[in-house]
Amino acid sequence: MSQLNIFVGTMYGGALDVAEQVKPLFEDAGYCVEIIEQPTLEMLTADTSALTLFCVSTTGNGDFPGNFVPFARELQEQSPALAALRYGIIALGDSSYDETFCGAGRALDARLEDLGATRLGERLEVDAMETFMADDAAVPWVEEWIESQQLKVA
Ligand SMILES: Cc1cc2nc3c(=O)[nH]c(=O)nc-3n(C[C@H](O)[C@H](O)[C@H](O)COP(=O)(O)O)c2cc1C
Repeated sequence: MSQLNIFVGTMYGGALDVAEQVKPLFEDAGYCVEIIEQPTLEMLTADTSALTLFCVSTTGNGDFPGNFVPFARELQEQSPALAALRYGIIALGDSSYDETFCGAGRALDARLEDLGATRLGERLEVDAMETFMADDAAVPWVEEWIESQQLKVA
């Protein structure tokens, strides 16, 4: 069965909630889905055929959430070749933070691109100033993502 892993970076649970809400959409599309709350580089590189969705919020001043910091550090320090990686990304943030809006998601996206990974479709940026519950934006986006990227395997 095709595998889809959701890597979560969250401080207050919003990004985890998004992961849990979109999980059934991928299951309906034929995937075995795992939500990963303590991501490591090894989990990313272990199965290169897996599709990866990142759900990552921003904290501090454009920083990664604490649970995501070790993974981000590994990506930075080890510079793995990620040419086989196909991923999507949902960044949670708040536009009142201006310059650091969705800073963590944007930095992650840029780093993955540097390492040769392929993003499928555009990055979704969920603005807490506009969308109270991030899954209200994420669920329709994932439905469209599955459709437009022809990700159905069932
Ligand atoms: C202390 C703090 C710092 C934050 N810093 C930023 C930031 O620099 N940029 C941004 O876009 N959002 C920032 N946010 C907003 C969060 O990213 C946003 O509320 C997000 O939905 C939280 O998701 P989570 O529940 O998964 O942690 C910050 C929120 C808090 C409480």
